[in-house]
Amino acid sequence: MTFSLRTIIDQDIPFVEGIEKEAFPTLWPRTPIKRDMHNKRIAYLVVTDLDQNPRINHLTNPMESPGESPNLYKRFSKTIQSKLFHQAPPRQTPFEMPLGFVSIWFLSDDAHITAIAVSNSWRGHGLGELLMIGSIESAISRNSRVVTLEVRISNSTAISLYQKYGFKKIGIRKAYYNDNREDAVIMTTEPIRSLSYEHRFSALCHEYSQRYYELGLALTNSNGSMPSIGLR
Ligand SMILES: CC(C)(COP(=O)(O)OP(=O)(O)OC[C@H]1O[C@@H](n2cnc3c(N)ncnc32)[C@H](O)[C@@H]1OP(=O)(O)O)[C@@H](O)C(=O)NCCC(=O)NCCS
Repeated sequence: MTFSLRTIIDQDIPFVEGIEKEAFPTLWPRTPIKRDMHNKRIAYLVVTDLDQNPRINHLTNPMESPGESPNLYKRFSKTIQSKLFHQAPPRQTPFEMPLGFVSIWFLSDDAHITAIAVSNSWRGHGLGELLMIGSIESAISRNSRVVTLEVRISNSTAISLYQKYGFKKIGIRKAYYNDNREDAVIMTTEPIRSLSYEHRFSALCHEYSQRYYELGLALTNSNGSMPSIGLR
C-alpha cells in the first residue's frame, strides 16, 4: 500500500462527508465542506491509498496549484525524501478515494485544526499521524505561530496523538459539545517555528518515515519532489 496526502478536490466531498459522519455521528449541522474548501483561510487535506483501483479519471492534475511553495517538507532530510517521495504522477491522475481528512482554519497567527478523522477500518495504520504531519507543515508554510484545537475530554486516542506532536492542555471549555454536554480540552503547540519545536517535529517526521516506509507510505506531488499539501 502507498498512502499519499493531498488537498481536497470536488470528487472527494462525498467520501469526506462519509468519514465525518462515521467519526462524528452526532455532529449537526454537518460541515459545509463544499463551501469551506473554497475559503482561502481553510485547508482540507485528505489521505488516500495510491494503489486503489482508479475510480474516476480527471483530465488535469488536481495537485497542481499555481501558488505552490517549493519548500514544503524541507524538514525531511534528502535521504528521507528520496525514500518517501514518489515519482510524478501522470498528468491524467486517477482519483483515489480519501481514507481520512483534516480541516485547518488559519486565523490570525493560529492554525486551528477543526476536525481530523480516519475511516474506521483504516485506523491504527499511521494515517492520522500523516494528517497531523501535513497539518503542521501546512501551518508552517502559512507562517502560523501555533497550532491549536479542541478535543473531547474522553477522547484519549486523539489526545495521545496530539500529545505526541507536542500539544499541551491549556484550558477547558465546559459543556462544549451539544450532544452530551461533554467538556472540551483546549490544546496548543509551542511556537511551531521555534528551534525546539522544529527539532521535535523533524525527529517525529524521521521516526514516522522509518516506521512506515516499510508499509510503503509516500507523500507525493505533481513534480515528484515535494508534496503539495495545505496549499490553495
Ligand atoms: C484520532 C484518529 C484520527 C487517529 O488516527 P489513526 O490513523 O487511527 O492514528 P495513527 O495510527 O496515525 O496513530 C497515531 C497516534 O495516535 C494515537 N493512537 C492511535 N490509536 C490509538 C489507540 N487505539 N489508543 C491510544 N492511542 C492511539 C497514538 O498516540 C498513536 O501514536 P503511536 O502509534 O506512536 O502510539 C482516529 O482515531 C479517528 O479518526 N478517530 C475518530 C475521530 C476523532 O475522534 N477525531 C479527533 C477529534 S477531532
